[in-house]
Amino acid sequence: MSPEPLQTLYWEDDSLFLLDQRLLPGEIRYLQCCTVADVVTAIKEMVVRGAPAIGISAAFGVVLAAKAAGTAGSGLSGLQEAITALRSARPTAVNLDWALRRMERRLEHAAGGTCEEVVDALAEEAQAILDEDILTNRKIGAHGAALIPDGASILTHCNAGALATAGYGTALGVIRAAVAQGKQLHIYVDETRPLLQGARLTALELLREEIPATLVTDSCAGYLISAGKVSLVIVGADRIAANGDTANKIGTYTLAVLAQRHEIPFYIAAPCSTIDLSLEDGRGIVIEERDPAEVTMFNGQKIAPAGIDALNPAFDVTPAELISAIITERGLLQRPDRAGLKNLLTKGER
Ligand code: MRU
Repeated sequence: MSPEPLQTLYWEDDSLFLLDQRLLPGEIRYLQCCTVADVVTAIKEMVVRGAPAIGISAAFGVVLAAKAAGTAGSGLSGLQEAITALRSARPTAVNLDWALRRMERRLEHAAGGTCEEVVDALAEEAQAILDEDILTNRKIGAHGAALIPDGASILTHCNAGALATAGYGTALGVIRAAVAQGKQLHIYVDETRPLLQGARLTALELLREEIPATLVTDSCAGYLISAGKVSLVIVGADRIAANGDTANKIGTYTLAVLAQRHEIPFYIAAPCSTIDLSLEDGRGIVIEERDPAEVTMFNGQKIAPAGIDALNPAFDVTPAELISAIITERGLLQRPDRAGLKNLLTKGER
């Protein structure tokens, strides 16, 4: 029997516990966040990462801020400052903003109550966001599995698995659902430089569940696809603009171009909370620039000569026309475009 998927985060004893993903796969250790500042730092330093997981963490960060305000007797006036700090912890994934907006709406509704009542209401909302995320991912999996042929060999990038969410995952959720249907799959896992989310996290998830997988360097993708070894590419998303342009881990765009060149499907799996209709197209998506030391250092060792300039954008944007379908909890959107996305968000479940 394969082990239970690793639990990314949970709320216990008035604290948020985050699986410290920086230590994986070597060590399973949870970091206890007791203050909103702990949560902001954990998101920035990627103790927790992945669009849905950072949104859920931020929601619990609001609970911690409200609790602290209640204890200090300072009322809830300082809460907006905490929410702003959480919102700016990482700029690209819209799920962070989405979860915080939800918490703000709940705060507004609970506003007349005592501090304790407000904290309870916020804790309930954060837990609901967490619980709903797992259900959402299972629906994404069920819809997406229909696109996966038996015998497929699939290339994925970064980690859009249980570790990037409250559980089950988006892109890996589709893979899990297809495997659960009895399909025989083989997964190629891009290592995902510079932080190796593929090698450290996706490989771990697949190995634990005994889903056949092979780890490759990022630069291997063209070779593999051109050799006919990949039937389709599936990845997650951090923000999808109104026209379908999609931001995801740096290197995703390269895979989409390769997929088009070699006429294989390129799929995005993401919850509707990743869709940002306020942005006309991908040009409006803010791309996080991380410390160049993540590129010039590896495991604490310098791997580039001192003085070399290095650039470290964490995401890129894949234009909608390269995306075969976006898989959401509300169904599949083939050849995504402005009208299709709007329709998806305004209509109920399909
Ligand atoms: O920098 P990260 O590790 O947070 O980047 C994560 C990704 O790019 C994922 O593909 C994306 O957040 C989707 S997770 C379901």
